[in-house]
Amino acid sequence: MALSSISTTTTATASVFISFLLLLVPTSFCSNNGLNFKSDVPQSDADLLEFPLNLEYLEAELFLWASLGRGLDNVAPDLTMGGPPPVGARKANLDPFTNDVILQFAYQEVGHLRAIKSRVQGFPRPLLNLSAEAFGEVMNSAFGRALNPPFNPYANELNFLLASYVVPYVGLTGYVGANPKLQTPPAKRLVAGLLAVESGQDAVIRGLLYKRASEKVNPYGITVAEFTNRVSELRNKLGSSGVKDEGLEVPNLQGAEGKIRGNVLAGDRNSLGFDRTPEEILRIVYGSGNERIPGGFYPKGADGRIAKSHLQSP
Ligand SMILES: *[C@@H]1O[C@H](CO)[C@@H](O)[C@H](O)[C@H]1NC(C)=O
Repeated sequence: MALSSISTTTTATASVFISFLLLLVPTSFCSNNGLNFKSDVPQSDADLLEFPLNLEYLEAELFLWASLGRGLDNVAPDLTMGGPPPVGARKANLDPFTNDVILQFAYQEVGHLRAIKSRVQGFPRPLLNLSAEAFGEVMNSAFGRALNPPFNPYANELNFLLASYVVPYVGLTGYVGANPKLQTPPAKRLVAGLLAVESGQDAVIRGLLYKRASEKVNPYGITVAEFTNRVSELRNKLGSSGVKDEGLEVPNLQGAEGKIRGNVLAGDRNSLGFDRTPEEILRIVYGSGNERIPGGFYPKGADGRIAKSHLQSP
């Protein structure tokens, strides 16, 4: 009897004390005036958290413009930090269902930008080339010839889904690659949360495309599956670090457990997500195969310490 009442008192005292500590926490964080969030993340974590802002900016703008016909300057101008507006982004011709999904992705990306910037200082939106021509070039490179007419991502929902196949997946592999290099729990938690939703987006895009895998993309007479296979092969080539990308149809041996041709999700021999380094990602999104040579979606290059360290060496 006596013992249990002592322990109840102790617990009560402890919880009062903890509540008191919790009350103090917000105050002490605010008093640091913006620098607080950097204190729990070492520089190497900050660099790895900052790098994906490049891709999150691209995805936010692409999805916002395609579904709303407006971008970050309209939806969340504070997040651009004064960076230039994207070139060539526009409303895509989407059916209501696809538009709804892409708009959800768009707002998710806005949240991702805000989440990263609440942890690290970040940088202004880099110049992004989201023109139909920029996507057209990716498809031309993927097929090794000029598609005629040029591929237009904004023309209809199938084209837009194929264009979307090009982007979030690259970010996803970057989060898998960053995770083992992170030192602190807050950074790991953030990357896990970003990875979860980016892979969800990739899964939705792949799922919608997989349903139409054998459909021919107009007017090319090339199937949806072939488009995804070519884009994945291109990314493997540009990344130049082996196979880290797979289209919607693979040889049986490359499918899950080496047993199946359908490949609604990409994964390694144990169906684990592939990882990519920031350098591999830059080679891909620059379209140059070289982290020192900007281009593609980033005419002036990506930002942040990692990307800039490559741009500065001539
Ligand atoms: C955007 O990309 C297209 C296709 O490569 C190119 O023709 C155009 O000049 C680029 N625009 C900018 C501003 O880099």
